[in-house]
Amino acid sequence: MLTIVRRILAFWRPHRWLGAGLIATMLLKALFTVVLALSIKVIIDGVLADGPDTSPGSILVLLVVGFLVSASAGIANGYLAARAGAEILADVRLSLFDRLQELSIGFHRKSQTGDLLARFATDVAQLSNGVIRQPLVGMTSFAAVLFYVPVMMLLEPRLATPAVLMMPIVVYLVNRLAPDADQALDEEKRQIAAVLSSVSENLRAQPIVRAFGLQNRSRVAFGRRISTLRAASSRAEFRVQLLAVFSEYAVALVQISVVGAGAVLALRGKLEVGTLAAFVGLLVEFTWETTVIGRDVLPEIRKAWSGVRRVDELLSTGPVSAKGVGGMMVPGLEESIRFENVSFGYSPDDALQLRDVNLVIPGGAYVAIVGASGSGKSTLLSILLRFYDPSSGRTMIDSMDLMDVDPRELRRLMGTVFQETFLFNASLRENIRLSAPEAGDAEIDAAVEAAGLSELVELLPDGLETIVGESGRQLSGGQSQRVGLARAFLRRPQLLLLDEATSALDPATESEAVRAIEGLRSGRTVIMVTHRLETTVNADMIVVMREGTVDEVGDFEELIERGQTFARMWEKQQGFRVSRDGRAASVTADRLTAVPLLAGVPVAPLQRLAGEFVTVRFDKDAVVFEEGDPGERFYLIVRGVVEVSRMGEAGERVVAYLEDGDFFGEMALLEGAPRNATVTAVTPTTTLSIDREQFESMLADVPEIARTIRVEAADRARANGSQ
Ligand code: CMP
Repeated sequence: MLTIVRRILAFWRPHRWLGAGLIATMLLKALFTVVLALSIKVIIDGVLADGPDTSPGSILVLLVVGFLVSASAGIANGYLAARAGAEILADVRLSLFDRLQELSIGFHRKSQTGDLLARFATDVAQLSNGVIRQPLVGMTSFAAVLFYVPVMMLLEPRLATPAVLMMPIVVYLVNRLAPDADQALDEEKRQIAAVLSSVSENLRAQPIVRAFGLQNRSRVAFGRRISTLRAASSRAEFRVQLLAVFSEYAVALVQISVVGAGAVLALRGKLEVGTLAAFVGLLVEFTWETTVIGRDVLPEIRKAWSGVRRVDELLSTGPVSAKGVGGMMVPGLEESIRFENVSFGYSPDDALQLRDVNLVIPGGAYVAIVGASGSGKSTLLSILLRFYDPSSGRTMIDSMDLMDVDPRELRRLMGTVFQETFLFNASLRENIRLSAPEAGDAEIDAAVEAAGLSELVELLPDGLETIVGESGRQLSGGQSQRVGLARAFLRRPQLLLLDEATSALDPATESEAVRAIEGLRSGRTVIMVTHRLETTVNADMIVVMREGTVDEVGDFEELIERGQTFARMWEKQQGFRVSRDGRAASVTADRLTAVPLLAGVPVAPLQRLAGEFVTVRFDKDAVVFEEGDPGERFYLIVRGVVEVSRMGEAGERVVAYLEDGDFFGEMALLEGAPRNATVTAVTPTTTLSIDREQFESMLADVPEIARTIRVEAADRARANGSQ
């Protein structure tokens, strides 16, 4: 309890003057209650003694003045309480928000948005109850009791002593003996949560509910949930009522016995009637306030404490973003960026994402970083941005170790475009200006032009002033991405970082965007992470990452000539032709031979195959099929990335990412079994697909393909079996 009191005081400390005002007004209010009770004594005793010794006039004046003072104190008290409450809550919310800005990207990666939002909503509400409302109610009652007890003692100690002793015992017994309402209330809350989640699931599942005519089934399941909730609610409510009734009658018992004893004393002439009346008035108030403290305030504070703990937990979560916030300024990038023996893992238990990376990127170069998903290419950028710091080794810009630099200073040099661009609910102009608030309109126009946004701006009703809406929902993925590019261009950064920035764009827009990026390369260093190798043709330097290490470095010609990893990746992506809008893909026999799956296949079957494949496109996040679905089609990825995930004991886990040139969906067709994994598009993905029959005749006609597919399927089955 002491720690709780200390914590409550800590929240109140910055607002101690409001607190002092609150206490003063509470005391004034309590004082009036006492004055009122005492005046009753004076009046009654006066009446009974035939002729009051104090004139009723002066008592009335006293009462009116007392009433006015008490009422003003009540109003002031309400105002101060509201103000203090709002200020404390504002403090808490601001410090929570500040904390979120400081916490590392790693923390954000791990935490769930829902949980963080709950801390702002439910937990802060609980905190407000436990730290503000209930302590105030408790203080008011306590202040009143502080006045009542001595006055009652003075008035009639023979009655006051048992009352004062009995009340805490009664409150304690009521709390112990009354049926436990807390548990029933918790159960009710759990049932409400279950009802809410089934509503939310039903909303998300509407297409399926309709498609499969599941309305009745959903209704029955929901009806069952509701009747469980109904039972829990009525049990909880009944227990709450019982608690109230219990305490009401227990308190009445105390009052009756004390008043009864008083009446006996009065009848025997051992107690003045006026004193008894005043005493009864105070007794009623006293028992009420003690009940409030014991029955409501203390349990409520205890209950609210879980919220306070969760808020405190977030406020003391570490580690804050990148350790060294060294105050050094970064003069700029002249010579090179160097990774020196850099290793990095997201957490000590995770596998290393980067292993002993040594890499020199000359200032002013146009560099592409490529490699399979998970090879560490994006992690290199995160380290450069100081979202994370290396576990060992160091990263240098010229002669400056990044650890000695303030991350904010460092990022001032950079313009970054991520795979997804977040748009705020503001005008397009504001969204672009974000990266360089002082930029003038002409500069914004130039950035819009460079990012290939001019056409869109002309089409929009209010041009650049169009509000793009919450999370930018009015714009397509490609359009948002161009806003991201414009944002980065506007900053005229020395170092332009692009993390799969063009992968959501269709081929025509992508090549436009790449051209725009290439147009910006003079006078700055551009580092582009991409899995789309066509965008690397003009790079000064291509870095090929593999399993966390640098596998190859060179320009396009050199790497193709070497015939190693890059050359193989390049070949894999060359078998297809995609229409300019990315909607239709086609394969031609001569190009199909470049796909590893189809390499060495004679031309005749290839020509037939080329005619059979149909283009199937998936939007970002679309589920191609789910684990357990029947297997019907085989897919070749033309452009895009998909995630393969399987249900394990510990929940769903990603087993692979497949991209341009890879195939999937073969296992179910080969085995005649259901799908053994769920496949989801990570980026907008274009595939070429054939159905089961075509797949089977392809295997029968072309033994080379059958072999490759079987070998890969066996490898995958082995990988899955060993997980
Ligand atoms: P299928 O079982 O038809 O549907 C799920 C597909 O996911 C499966 O075929 C494979 O194409 C693919 N898949 C399953 N496991 C792996 C894995 N370990 N690595 C790569 N792809 C896989």
